[in-house]
Amino acid sequence: MAMVPLNLLIDHDGRSARQRITCRYRCGDACAHPAPNTSDNAYFGDMVREAVTRRSALKAAGVAVLAVGAGSALAACSQDAKPTGQTAPPPSAPNPGMNFSAIAPNTEDAVVIPEGYQQAVVISWGDPVLPDAPTFDVTKQSAAAQRQQFGFNNDFAGLLPIDGAPDHYLLVVNHEYTTERFMFPGYDEKRPTREQFETALAAHGLTVVEVERTANGLKPVPGPYNRRITADSPFTLTGPAAGSEFVKTAADPGGRAVSGTINNCSGGVTPWGTVLSGEENFNSYFGAAEGAQAPSPIDADRWKRYGIKVKPSERLWETFDPRFDPTKTPNEVNRFGYVVELNPWDPRSTPVKHTAMGRFKHEAANIYVTPDGTVVAYSGDDERFDYMYKFVSAKKIQPGRDAAAMAANMTILDEGTLYVAKLTTDIPANQIDGSGTLPAAGAFRGSGTWLPLLRSGPDGAAESLVAGMTPQEVAVFTRFAADKAGATKMDRPEDFEANPRTGKLYVALTNNNERGAPGKSTADAPNPRNDNKNGQVLEITDDHAGTSFTWDLLLVCGDPAAADTYFGGFDKSKVSPISCPDNLAFDKHGNLWIATDGNALSSNDGLFAVALEGPNRGETRQFLTVPLGAETCGPIVLDDLVTISVQHPGEHDDNSIDDPLSHWPDGGNGTARPAVVAVWKPDGNIGV
Ligand code: FEO
Ligand code: CA
Ligand code: CA
Ligand code: CA
Repeated sequence: MAMVPLNLLIDHDGRSARQRITCRYRCGDACAHPAPNTSDNAYFGDMVREAVTRRSALKAAGVAVLAVGAGSALAACSQDAKPTGQTAPPPSAPNPGMNFSAIAPNTEDAVVIPEGYQQAVVISWGDPVLPDAPTFDVTKQSAAAQRQQFGFNNDFAGLLPIDGAPDHYLLVVNHEYTTERFMFPGYDEKRPTREQFETALAAHGLTVVEVERTANGLKPVPGPYNRRITADSPFTLTGPAAGSEFVKTAADPGGRAVSGTINNCSGGVTPWGTVLSGEENFNSYFGAAEGAQAPSPIDADRWKRYGIKVKPSERLWETFDPRFDPTKTPNEVNRFGYVVELNPWDPRSTPVKHTAMGRFKHEAANIYVTPDGTVVAYSGDDERFDYMYKFVSAKKIQPGRDAAAMAANMTILDEGTLYVAKLTTDIPANQIDGSGTLPAAGAFRGSGTWLPLLRSGPDGAAESLVAGMTPQEVAVFTRFAADKAGATKMDRPEDFEANPRTGKLYVALTNNNERGAPGKSTADAPNPRNDNKNGQVLEITDDHAGTSFTWDLLLVCGDPAAADTYFGGFDKSKVSPISCPDNLAFDKHGNLWIATDGNALSSNDGLFAVALEGPNRGETRQFLTVPLGAETCGPIVLDDLVTISVQHPGEHDDNSIDDPLSHWPDGGNGTARPAVVAVWKPDGNIGV
């Protein structure tokens, strides 16, 4: 396999190595613009005194404060770190589930997997999903074909076993965004055609496809559940914003019937058998003619906080359909940015958008169920200096999968309380210098509070818990509510997910090139590095249905040889370098698996396993890398199979479908195609 020069992967703007073309199409160049959170809610440093008070109170109340092992191993990477009397754990056998040979960082145009493992593509962009789908032909692609085929840029993937059909699953996949230049030969960015516009609409959304476990991974098969959801499919708005003045349009005067879903990034499978999908960078699909104006200062303010620009959008969809022009259809933008729920078991069901869970750039939503059946949904707002949220249901989960239970469970996320996280610490401010140097205690840690924003009840009834905002305003302009509440500004919260074995939560904080920049929030304990290129992983011990938690940083990512990195106290000479954590999964052994997006260490992105408990805590091993220009998404780790979404292979500023960087997966002169890949070990289970 040909190696390419490492400088192909050097970052375009001094940030992560994500290409500028990816930023333009995926997130509307979010990183090239100032972060939209200009609120002056409490800076972390101001909260230290309060934290000391609170921590004392917690101790007095007998609440355990999480202790994190540090030890002399850390002294080597931090001149200021004081040995705590503990010693580094001796080298030991890998945790069950992590017994594979770590692969080395590389820049191959391939999925590189450990020795002894095998791989195969499950499904690629353009493969048939519905019975009449034509065979993929990149030179003849059309909207009619795309509506029946697997969409572009697969991200989240969920695998749901089909009752009574051993080895058969529903594979449910998000199609986050389109990059037209890598889809349509000869694409003219200034003059897209209507057919290209409609094809792109159809390449968004979700796919439901039945797959069969075979000796060669997973094979798509025809089935009654197979379905495509697109940026034009009907959706129902539920919760307090539904029917409100903020979401009514001329096409939908009732404010409850939305057309489509866009920029579906990550997601989660619910315990009741549906799939949640986060509408993330929805703002980038809306645009207006040069010189157009927002209808009012308040609209301008709201659009600014959500990154909606009054200028031509990257794809120019607003030139084909005025619903994508906020100066013509101002409320259309308020109908995106929600958590979507899809019942994949009923192909005729209308998916819903749950406004009680708030509107922001939802990376995903992942569920934890407390012993009494209360449902807690965790979700990150993936933007520099934005927040971490949770929704605690008022209703309990109903057992069973019959129609009545499904109908009841699909309303659980409409009634409950939405919170945003405020993190505190008792680490003295002068020990957080923005370099990542560990504090004297040997690890970054603290406690926190969930600040209530919105309490939603039956039939859209709701109570605002933020002074000066109506419940509908909190549901639709949630970022403003969280600003007012005083939430903690984080380094781009991505996947936020509970370990099913321990209930502890993990948050991927991917990076933040503006941390510590002039006029911006500086480093704090949970975001301890200025100009944070490599990200960190936060661990939370939550009082799930309650309002308090403790936290620590499990990983401060980057080059293990660099002083600013931390791997849970594990010997840094024995870990894989990891950069820009994004999507999370857990194996049955309790190990955390992390997919990366935008590796800033001159390697392709990859998938890593991290030990969480026992003497190996913090050990990080790289399981695979994805091809040139690609991002690793949607990891699923089963006993005997791992799947990942390979998103945007070959996406590079200097390339296009006419001048490709990657030919993955077909090789030769093949067109680079986003795809889901399965990896397995022919003679045993994953990592054992
Ligand atoms: Fe689509 Fe947060 O990455
Ligand atoms: Ca990401
Ligand atoms: Ca996940
Ligand atoms: Ca991602």
